[in-house]
Amino acid sequence: MSESKAIQSRLESLIQALPKTELHLHIEGSLEPQLMWDLAQKHGVSLAYSSVDDIKDAYQFEDLQSFLDLYYQGASVLLDEDDFYQLMWAYLCKCNEQHVVHTEIMFDPQTHTERGIEFSVFMKGFERAIKQAENEFGMSVYLIMSFLRHLSEDSAFACLAQAKPYYNMIKALGLDSSELGNPPSKFERVFKQGKELGFLIVAHAGEEGPADYVWEAIRLLDVDRIDHGVRSSEDPSLMEYLKTHQIPLTVCPLSNLKLCVVNDMAQHNILDLLDMDLMVMVNSDDPSYFGGYLNENYLALLHNLPLTEKALVKLVKNSFSASFLPKETKREWIAKIDSLL
Ligand code: ADE
Ligand code: ZN
Repeated sequence: MSESKAIQSRLESLIQALPKTELHLHIEGSLEPQLMWDLAQKHGVSLAYSSVDDIKDAYQFEDLQSFLDLYYQGASVLLDEDDFYQLMWAYLCKCNEQHVVHTEIMFDPQTHTERGIEFSVFMKGFERAIKQAENEFGMSVYLIMSFLRHLSEDSAFACLAQAKPYYNMIKALGLDSSELGNPPSKFERVFKQGKELGFLIVAHAGEEGPADYVWEAIRLLDVDRIDHGVRSSEDPSLMEYLKTHQIPLTVCPLSNLKLCVVNDMAQHNILDLLDMDLMVMVNSDDPSYFGGYLNENYLALLHNLPLTEKALVKLVKNSFSASFLPKETKREWIAKIDSLL
């Protein structure tokens, strides 16, 4: 084997073997075409597809909105508690296979409540799967409740009120959906209330939207992490701020490729951001729509960018540092990674 092949092979093994966290994952975006098909049959929901392969073939996107249109349609098959259990359980089994030991999962209540599904239906389904994964796999799982930014701030307030019986299951609040035209400033009051209630805060910003949206998320929402944030590189003063304050950017390489945020994986800026000492790490966003779970995202970097072992290990350690785990637990996982190298 040539030396470069041997290095590639070692890095591929490390990607699988290292304990990892995932910090940016929409549970509705982990709905696999087969499960979507099965649940549609179960409930007699008519889909705009004639087969599972037809669903897969439809996943060609030109931007965020073209994806979101299919993503919301796909979620229409999720109707009863067991559907939400199956959705969550399938993702957590995938985490176990890929050695993801901790995950912080976004869910979009308004996608379901707008269709008449009660909070209790999805929360109980999620809870059952999470408890099972904690018991069977020893995994830790946090939930992030995300508001849909194409809806009004009043709708987000209503969502926050409806979630009250489940506050003990929710670690953080997030902001997702159509970014352009829906800046963080639209949600300043509801996040202020969320912060007062004790939630941590994350927000999608700088995915399709400009660097100014990242500034707004920092200054107006007081975020603990930015989801995506890759367009921050367009503003040198923002880059300096993100570096100084080590504000995490939860980067999603395959998502950025599939949604045409970058035209070519070889042009992705994640390693440049890492080289500049920004707190970046790898995530899968909506794996069933974008062609890969966490390890496939790392592999996409390995196969298209000059990813070194040092950079890989830093990305994986960052995924723990930027998590909402207790400090001591982070320290233990990072020590475990060092012991494996
Ligand atoms: N909802 C699910 N995936 C998303 C993404 N990549 N950006 C914004 N909202 C989303
Ligand atoms: Zn996302």
